[in-house]
Amino acid sequence: MLKDIDPRIKELIFADRERQEKTLNLIASENYASKATREACASVLTNKYAEGYPGARYYAGCEFCDRIETLAIQRAKELFKAEYVNVQPHSGTQANMAAYLAFLSPGDTIMAMDLACGGHLSHGSKVSFSGILYNVVTYSVDPKTHLIDLEKIRELALAHRPRMIVCGASAYPRIIDFKKFREVADSVGALLLADIAHIAGLIVGGAHPSPIESCHIITTTTHKTLRGPRGGMIITKEEYGRLIDKAVFPGIQGGPLMHIIASKAVCFKEALSADFKEYSVQITRNAKVLADTLISLGLTLVSGGTDNHLLLVDLSKEGLTGKEAEAMLYGEGIVVNKNAIPYDQKSPSITSGIRLGTPALTTRGMKEAEMERIAYAIDKILRKKVDVKDEVLALTKKFPIPE
Ligand SMILES: Cc1ncc(COP(=O)(O)O)c(C=O)c1O
Repeated sequence: MLKDIDPRIKELIFADRERQEKTLNLIASENYASKATREACASVLTNKYAEGYPGARYYAGCEFCDRIETLAIQRAKELFKAEYVNVQPHSGTQANMAAYLAFLSPGDTIMAMDLACGGHLSHGSKVSFSGILYNVVTYSVDPKTHLIDLEKIRELALAHRPRMIVCGASAYPRIIDFKKFREVADSVGALLLADIAHIAGLIVGGAHPSPIESCHIITTTTHKTLRGPRGGMIITKEEYGRLIDKAVFPGIQGGPLMHIIASKAVCFKEALSADFKEYSVQITRNAKVLADTLISLGLTLVSGGTDNHLLLVDLSKEGLTGKEAEAMLYGEGIVVNKNAIPYDQKSPSITSGIRLGTPALTTRGMKEAEMERIAYAIDKILRKKVDVKDEVLALTKKFPIPE
């Protein structure tokens, strides 16, 4: 249909599909959703208004939407071993917005990781609603080790007495100790929110400790390591469920995206499989080999390596900015994003580093051997040695993106 009705859009969609096929995607927050999850996204459910929640909607005709949303909730609960789940947030940012609205008043203090040290915009950046509405105290990583220093965080918490502490990040390559964060939160009577947008897939696959026992509220996206449709979700305790539901709708959203909720249900079913567990462990194995090989080639990694799906390369020694490196790599078919490194002196649009992640390439079936080849290719490009386009194309051909 698209071919006849809107050939220009069809052409552009297919052009992006070809781009996805012919490049190596190392963007840590991206993945390839399965055909089944995409089918649900493209379904007739986009036609339906279903404001409210299963069994309590503001429109007639929601009986099937009720069953779909209930299934999505049940599967998410099983997946995360959770008491209460809201699957309606349209995105990770909206999940955070609803979580703050549920528990905070404007002007309340939240403590979260500094953007330059790996935090997310919605964790209190001055240019985000979160920094505009709330009083934000940021914590950094240790300047030498680049690790989260919970003793420093405890001191900051004692000094500022936040109502909420946010842990979880967009660019932190190490394990987050949710239990220790909870001890700090308890010591000042703060709520603990874990934003697991990046590591949700690792958590359900057992490749990263779960925050379930330690956190009052957990927010996530469903499209990164979880490999589902673009969207968000909130996990909490039974006692906070109503508060969260009210904050999502009518607090910050109107009608839920039922086609996306159906797709989330499919994604959760896929993530409950044994294959997904193996996938999530392979993501971390791949990241480790990528990191070790880059280090062996002389590149510097923030924190000296990785425990999860991502790594940050500090390019200061190479005399390159993140912006330059991103363009050089993209020119050869390797897709990464420029990223600030801790205490970066350069602006967020230039940066001194790049962020690399393995979730997408692991979905394509790549393993340790391919990670080594890719690390060599990255090193060559950054050292302006040789053209690696053929090498990139050979890998993309051998490991096609899911249909
Ligand atoms: C830790 C974290 N939280 C929230 C988000 C926001 O997700 P979205 O882009 O769906 O709003 C991101 C996205 O990169 C993230 O990394």
